[in-house]
Amino acid sequence: MKIVLATRNAGKIKEIKQMLPATEVLTLNDFPALAMPPETGQTFRDNALLKALFIAEKTGLPALADDSGLEADALGGRPGVYSARYAGKDSTDTDNYLKLLREMKGIAMEKRKARFRCVIALAFPDRRAFTFDGVFEGYITLEPRGAKGFGYDPVFLVPEMGKTVAELDLEEKNAISHRARALRKLKDFLESGAWKSP
Ligand code: IMP
Repeated sequence: MKIVLATRNAGKIKEIKQMLPATEVLTLNDFPALAMPPETGQTFRDNALLKALFIAEKTGLPALADDSGLEADALGGRPGVYSARYAGKDSTDTDNYLKLLREMKGIAMEKRKARFRCVIALAFPDRRAFTFDGVFEGYITLEPRGAKGFGYDPVFLVPEMGKTVAELDLEEKNAISHRARALRKLKDFLESGAWKSP
């Protein structure tokens, strides 16, 4: 089976290829003229579906897309689908997590519960589509710690490990992350053959 990944993000491509060794994985780099539609959905699921359906239609091949972000309970689930642009359109990872720390200033540790969420959508050119989600539970720290990873990793504490995600090695993160959990569900689904049309 051939699948097109609706991304040009090298990190995501590597992670997904590693997870699906039996699948021939193409990416948007193989379709340079294709531009992604804007992420106008109100949920991670909506955004993952709109990207996967668009790429399946344009390429005539099954397509995979993901959408992910951080939900802080004390902020009613924000930044959510706005995680990548929380501090503005061209904001850096550091701008975004510093804004989060500012917004959560004065909130006690036990009320700083948060989770990373990832939704992966698999769509077919005939418009059949399936979604898989993964969550990664933790707490927002009072200050950033660690230098690995990306995004909100320096301010996301994994309570069982006493470390932020930015203090974990990539292999440790990939064993427990939201994206890895969603990918495992996708892998099981692909191997089950349940996606084949009747
Ligand atoms: P997208 O899924 O590529 O649209 O990006 C979602 C945004 O959520 C990223 O830019 C990060 O800010 C944040 N995010 C998603 N997954 C992670 C993660 O594993 N660590 C840290 N931040 C993440």
